Amino acid sequence: MLRLDSLSCGYGAMQAVHGLDLHVAKGSITTLLGANGAGKSSTIMCIAGHVAVHSGEIRYKDRKITDASPMQRIKDGISVVPEGRRLFPNLTVKENLIVGGYSRSRDESNRELERMLSIFPRLEERLGQRAGSLSGGEQQMLAIGRALMSKPELLLVDELSLGLMPKIIDICYRAIAELNKDGLTIILVEQSTHRALEVADQVCVLESGRTVWQGTSDEAQNNVKMIDSLLGLREETSDA
Ligand SMILES: Nc1ncnc2c1ncn2[C@@H]1O[C@H](COP(=O)(O)OP(=O)(O)OP(=O)(O)O)[C@@H](O)[C@H]1O
Ligand SMILES: [Mg+2]
Repeated sequence: MLRLDSLSCGYGAMQAVHGLDLHVAKGSITTLLGANGAGKSSTIMCIAGHVAVHSGEIRYKDRKITDASPMQRIKDGISVVPEGRRLFPNLTVKENLIVGGYSRSRDESNRELERMLSIFPRLEERLGQRAGSLSGGEQQMLAIGRALMSKPELLLVDELSLGLMPKIIDICYRAIAELNKDGLTIILVEQSTHRALEVADQVCVLESGRTVWQGTSDEAQNNVKMIDSLLGLREETSDA
């Protein structure tokens, strides 16, 4: 579905990701892990076309998309739930969702809206409410819902569970599992390992913009201590 070959990207002269190789199979879930500043968001936003490629290649469904515009990538089926959600706080829930579906026809958009509301019924109750007045969890559901409105085949989710209560994290992870079961390919960026390992097929750990570990989720689960130490979590645990 997606192939990153020796991908380097960044901001002007600043290189955030150095020579990343990643193959994402259709219908799979890939988890990208890494500490603050590891290059996770840069990678995701580069795939979506918002961060400049310095060298290397991005291939999607066997076509090179390295130079494609963000809009073209949305039309091709790549959608992103950005870090910090970036909703339009003064628009209603419904208006935010409509904005997410702007690349599709009205009929397609209405169908996606129905499907999305069945995944997150809580949003249906709040369609007329301003997005800025939603709780953090509802905002995350809306951010995912808005990304789904463009009918993606590849969904990129940055920090799914950051700052959310366990109950809401459960709802979001259940939605991810359900969408994946329906065939959606997903790249999930997370800081907290364990939950993300449970749903993943493949795991990639980044440090300072480079891959320091890559393997299957089973391999990752068998090496949780090693991964925690790569993420700098083990020192914190032993200090506590
Ligand atoms: N807009 C920007 N301009 C310049 N440098 C940036 C920009 N955004 C990110 N960077 C730099 O790129 C590097 C990677 O940042 P990135 O946001 O990709 O990390 P991350 O893994 O998502 O971290 P976090 O877990 O904190 O979200 C960091 O050194 C960061 O300072
Ligand atoms: Mg980030």
